[in-house]
Amino acid sequence: MNGNMDWGMANRLSKTIRPDGRCFYLAMDHGYFQGPTHCLEQPGKAAEPLLPYIDALFVTRGVLRAVTNPAMNPALILRVSGGNSMVGKDLANEEATTAMDDIIRLNASAVGISVYIGSDYEHQTLMALAKLVNECTAYGIPVMAVTAVGRETGKMEARYLSLACRICAEFGASVVKTYYCEGFEKVTGGCPVPVVIAGGPKTDSEYEVLQFVYNGIQQGAIGVNLGRNIWQNECPVGMARSLQALIHENATPQEAYELFLSIKQDVK
Ligand code: 5RP
Repeated sequence: MNGNMDWGMANRLSKTIRPDGRCFYLAMDHGYFQGPTHCLEQPGKAAEPLLPYIDALFVTRGVLRAVTNPAMNPALILRVSGGNSMVGKDLANEEATTAMDDIIRLNASAVGISVYIGSDYEHQTLMALAKLVNECTAYGIPVMAVTAVGRETGKMEARYLSLACRICAEFGASVVKTYYCEGFEKVTGGCPVPVVIAGGPKTDSEYEVLQFVYNGIQQGAIGVNLGRNIWQNECPVGMARSLQALIHENATPQEAYELFLSIKQDVK
């Protein structure tokens, strides 16, 4: 950790990036534009059994206040952008949604904001990131920038993602969340701040998830911010525990998968 960093910023970062330099964030923010996403209809119930395995929970203030326990152990990463929806015109049309005093009141260890680079809303979302970094830096709160692609899934490739991640870092993000892709080392290699991997839609197999997370970490990511591939799985606890083993206990994908299978069997 940067020795020149102010104590508050370093303290908050230490809650979201563990002493081994790795992190496991559970993303449950999807409702902010997707509504009651499949398996996230009751986010409090979905989150509860998974909390022992994760380092931080990524949610909006609405879900946080409505259904999470203030005594929860994982750190809070607050989703602070929105203004779009699945049925609206353009998924990229986001702005900051959450005032600085509420971010502080909720004791967020970090905040997350999406930017849509290359979209019609590139400038708007980048300037929202800049403003958020300006305001959060004054209070020692780290910003996680999310390189969002909306419906343009073709952008999930190294050339675009390395450009997007680098721009987020240049704007002062403390952490950048992006997608795993072929040539991922180009993405992490060009980004001077830590990179975490988002999951995307649920994959066909658990092993696939464990493999891309493992590969991503080998190629320079510090961990994950994963959602659907955990809580849409038929055994969410098995996925959470096996990802924890992969991220913090250096398990191989095979070892993590075997752990998943044994938990799934016990839960049944
Ligand atoms: C939604 C998000 C999610 O936090 C992010 O995409 C991770 O979730 P998933 O693994 O389900 O993709 O930013 O806008």
